[in-house]
Amino acid sequence: MGTPEAPNPAAVVVLAAGEGRRMRSARPKVLHEIAGRALLGHAVHAAAALAPEHLVVVAGHGRDQVREYLGGLASELSRSAMLAIQDEQRGTGHAVACALDSLPALSGPVMVTYGDVPLLDAATLRGLLTEHAAAGNAVTVLTAVVEDPTGYGRVLRTDPPDADPTLGDPNGPITGIVEHRDGTPEQLAIREINSGVYVFEADVLADGLATLAASTANSGPGNAQGEQYLTDLVGFAHAAGRRVGAQRCADPWLVSGVNDRVQLAEIRAELNRRLLVGWMRAGVTVIDPATTWVDVRVRLGQDVTLHPNTQLHGATTVAEAAEIGPDTTLTDCRIGAGARVVRTHGSGADIGAGASVGPYAYLRPGARLGESGKIGTFVEVKNSDIGPGTKVPHLTYVGDATIGERSNIGASSVFVNYDGVAKHRTVVGSHVRTGSDNTFVAPVNVGDGAYTGAGAVIRQDVPPGALAVSAGEQRNIEGWVNRRRPGTPAALAAEKALSDPPGRVDSGAPSDTVSAPTAGCGGGQLG
Ligand code: UD1
Ligand code: CA
Repeated sequence: MGTPEAPNPAAVVVLAAGEGRRMRSARPKVLHEIAGRALLGHAVHAAAALAPEHLVVVAGHGRDQVREYLGGLASELSRSAMLAIQDEQRGTGHAVACALDSLPALSGPVMVTYGDVPLLDAATLRGLLTEHAAAGNAVTVLTAVVEDPTGYGRVLRTDPPDADPTLGDPNGPITGIVEHRDGTPEQLAIREINSGVYVFEADVLADGLATLAASTANSGPGNAQGEQYLTDLVGFAHAAGRRVGAQRCADPWLVSGVNDRVQLAEIRAELNRRLLVGWMRAGVTVIDPATTWVDVRVRLGQDVTLHPNTQLHGATTVAEAAEIGPDTTLTDCRIGAGARVVRTHGSGADIGAGASVGPYAYLRPGARLGESGKIGTFVEVKNSDIGPGTKVPHLTYVGDATIGERSNIGASSVFVNYDGVAKHRTVVGSHVRTGSDNTFVAPVNVGDGAYTGAGAVIRQDVPPGALAVSAGEQRNIEGWVNRRRPGTPAALAAEKALSDPPGRVDSGAPSDTVSAPTAGCGGGQLG
C-alpha cells in the first residue's frame, strides 16, 4: 500500500477577520484582487477543492462586503462557504473558536488557513492532510524555511542531529510555536516559520481552544499582543503527549501572505509569472512575459501567441493559433482559432475564427464578428452581429446592428442607434457595399446585394440590389470665399491660385466636378 489518500476534512476554516490596516483601503484586505480573483477567492477555491464537509470563512472587518463576495462566489464554486462573524479581533485562536461555534460538533481533521495567502494551492493543502493522516498526528503544521523569518512565528523542535541552531530536527516532533514578539534571541534565530496553516484533529482543536479561552479568562493572554494565539495549541498538544508534526513547504511563495500593497504587487507578479509559465509549457508563445498578464480563469489554445503588453482578463478564451496584441486588453472575450487582434480594447466580444481586429479597435459587450470578418482601425462595435467575411475596415461606429455575410461597410460610417429616448437596430444584408461616410438612422434595413452612395444618410429601407443615394448634387459657388471672407488667408490663397495657377495642365478646362452654372468669377447674384 502506498501513502493513504488524504481524507476529506471535516471542516476548513479560512481566517479573514483582520482589519488589514496596512492596505490603507476602504475595501477589506481579502477582497483585493490578483489575477482576476479576490485574495479570499483564491483561498476559498483551494479550500473547496478538498471537498470539506464544512467550509467556513471567519470575517470581522468589512463583513458585509465579505458576505456579498461569498454570495457571488457560491455559483462559481457550486457550493457555498459559511460566514462566521468574529466581532472583535481577539486573536487567531479566538477566530477559530468563532468558526467552531457556528458548526455542529466535529470529528476528524479540521484545517485552518488564511484568506490573505493566495498562492496556497489545493495540492499543497492536500499534501498537508495526507501527511497528517499518514503520520497519525494530532496536529500538523505547514512550515517553511526562509532566509528572513522576521515577524513570523518560529517552529520549536528538538535539537537537530547536526546541531544547527537555526533549524530543528525535521523528523523530530514539534514542541511548540513562539511568536516573533515573544521569542528569546535564541528562538528568533530559528528560520523555520509557522505558515499559519494547520490540520488539527477536531477533539484536540476543541480542547485546546477551551484551554486557551479559560487561561485567558483567568490570567489574561500571556503574550506580548494580548491575543488568544492559535499557535499555543501546538504546545498544548505536545505537552499532552499528542504527536505534532510538520510538513515543510519547499516553496515559500505558497505560504506568503499579503499585508500591504507592496506585497500585493509582488504576489500578483509571481502568480502571473507562474500562470504564464504554465501556458508556455502548454504550447502558448508569450513574447514578453514581463508585460503580459492573464487572469486565472483565462483559457488559451495551442500555438496561441501573446504579443507584448497584452492583458487577458476574466473568462477570456483564445482558440488555437490566434495572435493577440501588442497593446491589447480583453475582458470576458472569446477569440476564435487563427484570429488576429491588434492594439484593441475589448470586453464581452466574440470574434470568429480567422477574423482580424484592429489596430485601434474598441469592442464593447455583444460585439460579434463572424469567421474571417474584419473590424479595422478606429472602429467601435457594440451589441452587433457582423457576419462571416464582412468587413468594417475604417473609422466607424457599429451599434445595435445586424450585418450579413461578405458585406463591406464604407469608411467613416455611423450606425445611429439612439434617438435620444430608445435604441433601435439597423439590419444590413449580405453582399452589401455601403459607401464611405454613410449614416444609418435606425431602425432601417439595407437589403441583400444593395449599394449605397458616398455620404448617404440612410433613413429609409433600401431594397435588395438597389443603389441608395441621398446626398444632393454638388454645387460649387465660385468666388464665395473672396466675397464673404475677404482678406482671410483662405481668400488670399484662392486669389493667388486663380490669378496664377501653378503648373495647371487643365487650366480653363472643365473639371470633373459639377459647377453651378451661373456663379462665375465676375460675381453677380448667388443662386
Ligand atoms: C500568525 C501566526 C504566526 C504565523 C503567521 C503567518 C498566530 C498567533 N500567529 O501571525 O505564527 O507565522 O500568522 O502569517 O496565529 N485573524 C482573524 N482574527 C483575529 C486575528 C487574526 O481572523 O483575531 C486572521 C487575519 O485576518 C489573518 C490571519 O488571521 O488573515 C493571521 O493574522 P495575523 O494577525 O496576520 O497573524 P500574524 O501576527 O501574522
Ligand atoms: Ca499576517
